[in-house]
Amino acid sequence: MNLIVAVDRNWAIGKDNRLMHHIPADMKYFREMTKGGVVVMGRKTLESFPQGQPLKNRVNIVISRRKDYKVKGAVVVHSVEEAVETAVEESKKCGGGIFVIGGESIYRAMLGYCDTAYVTKIDHAFDADTYFPDLDADAEWEMTKISEEQTCFDLEYYFTVYERVR
Ligand SMILES: NC(=O)c1ccc[n+]([C@@H]2O[C@H](COP(=O)([O-])OP(=O)(O)OC[C@H]3O[C@@H](n4cnc5c(N)ncnc54)[C@H](OP(=O)(O)O)[C@@H]3O)[C@@H](O)[C@H]2O)c1
Repeated sequence: MNLIVAVDRNWAIGKDNRLMHHIPADMKYFREMTKGGVVVMGRKTLESFPQGQPLKNRVNIVISRRKDYKVKGAVVVHSVEEAVETAVEESKKCGGGIFVIGGESIYRAMLGYCDTAYVTKIDHAFDADTYFPDLDADAEWEMTKISEEQTCFDLEYYFTVYERVR
């Protein structure tokens, strides 16, 4: 399984249930990478999307402990294990990859199931309240690719790929 995330220089990912930045090229990268596949997210991340709607052209799997939680256009599951099982089944059906897309609690709970992390690194320190684990400090992960420096509204950022090495 894969994960995809945008982090700042402190591995921050969000504030007040929103992204901290708006980088159109990163949104496009996210859409292109995940299109036709299966995306797995926490209930709060779903609710951070415009009108709280699932993403089009992808199978959306939403994790919530609430047994009565229902979302039109998404499969709701109630544990990480159920999310993994359902994602594997749905990926076989649609033929696309599986991407864990956040937020913090789901990245932390599902990192151990992932082998490849697509990490957009923004060279800035935002005010934040949610974080991704620091993969540079984790001996199980190594950065294997980094793009040229990109810029957007004075923000410098890079598209990187990390892979599990042990
Ligand atoms: N920078 C990025 O790339 C990126 C990507 C995605 C999200 N984000 C940001 O991340 C932040 C949200 O992260 P978050 O950690 O607060 O929320 P989250 O992980 O999106 O969702 C948390 C919710 O998921 C459910 N959940 C979590 N673990 C569970 C488990 N083991 N079993 C069943 N349900 C479980 C619970 O839902 P219930 O309360 O319904 O039980 C929990 O309240 C936002 O700021 C968002 O913008 C950033």
